[in-house]
Amino acid sequence: MKYKIAIIGFGTVGQGFAEILEEKGVWLKERYGLDFDVVAISDPVKGSVYADPSRHGTGREHGLDLKKILSLIKETGKIDSYSEGIKGWDSVRTITDTNSNVIAEASPTNIETGEPGITHIRSALNNKKHVITTNKGPVALAYRELAKLASENEVFFRFEGTVISGTPALNLGLEALAGIKIQEIRGILNGTTNYILTEMESGKTYEEVLREAQRLGYAEAKPDADVEGWDALAKVLILANVVMGGNLRVQDIERTGITGITLQDIQEAKSENKRYKLIGKVRKENGGIKASVRPEKLNIGDSLAQVNGVLNALTFVTDELREVTIVGPGAGRRETGFSLLSDLLNIHQLLEKSSSTIDPSRIVTC
Ligand SMILES: NC(=O)c1ccc[n+]([C@@H]2O[C@H](COP(=O)([O-])OP(=O)(O)OC[C@H]3O[C@@H](n4cnc5c(N)ncnc54)[C@H](OP(=O)(O)O)[C@@H]3O)[C@@H](O)[C@H]2O)c1
Repeated sequence: MKYKIAIIGFGTVGQGFAEILEEKGVWLKERYGLDFDVVAISDPVKGSVYADPSRHGTGREHGLDLKKILSLIKETGKIDSYSEGIKGWDSVRTITDTNSNVIAEASPTNIETGEPGITHIRSALNNKKHVITTNKGPVALAYRELAKLASENEVFFRFEGTVISGTPALNLGLEALAGIKIQEIRGILNGTTNYILTEMESGKTYEEVLREAQRLGYAEAKPDADVEGWDALAKVLILANVVMGGNLRVQDIERTGITGITLQDIQEAKSENKRYKLIGKVRKENGGIKASVRPEKLNIGDSLAQVNGVLNALTFVTDELREVTIVGPGAGRRETGFSLLSDLLNIHQLLEKSSSTIDPSRIVTC
């Protein structure tokens, strides 16, 4: 099968994904038999282009020239002047009306409404197109509905990059650890806050480090999503509902950010051989699932206390292996772009393995 990919949202992640596909395309085909074209890209500011096979004149079915697209975006910040194809289709039309069969959704996360991601994903699944996404909103707010829709339409819905980017958190919990009972998952799920807490240990105030983080591009000008714990909450919600089988909503999760942590708190913890970390936690309790995001003072020997700077980490507390901890990048252009490739390869391998009998609902739900 040839995967005809439409990329929706061409910012940091969409471009990172395109770069990886452009650089590794030949090797991916040789090594994994992954045959693909990127047939369309849609972004409200950078532009939209669809390499419609019936319109570009050669009669040959092919996708966009990613090398050209990437150099255009580098030089002009836009893809509008790409020489071939249909221009200007919005995201929904690109999803529904192009000959794509895989939608790579990388539009901005909105943890209040899940939009525009939910609409994009619903449209793709209803049109029997596989979805790979890094957008946390739709998975945090509408996982059950979207997984059901994927199953009904016999397509895959994969979203590895929604929790600590390309570091394989969901694949680890759902696939590598299948057969194990997970009692708790706890982790450092946000690089910006981990960077701030790490740097405060050297005696800088919260405000000083926040400004530094903004200058380095680790924190947004409006940092609330990170420092108030919303970004970590979205990931906790995904872990709770996808890996632990819960059905939690945003309001079910206790959330405290790091804005109340003072330099004095950090120094006191240091003198006790402890360290503050913003910990996202999901645990089985009294037959249900409980989840929280809050700063916790960890013993210095705790594996999560050793994870500093922008790094992220997750510890799975299990019956058979006791604790399994994974540490890796939680953000970044290539790191998150890679998560989309990982989802695509996963779909490809599942389809290859069982091309006639596979039931996607067995894979997308836990
Ligand atoms: N960057 C990371 O390291 C990382 C890590 C994990 C997960 N994620 C998630 O991945 C997604 C993409 O992140 P990013 O860093 O690439 O964000 P980004 O740089 O802001 O890119 C998102 C792009 O989508 C565009 N967009 C907005 N509305 C759209 C629509 N209706 N249809 C199509 N495109 C639309 C945005 O345009 P405007 O600029 O005009 O809004 C922007 O160009 C987000 O959901 C994010 O939470 C990112």
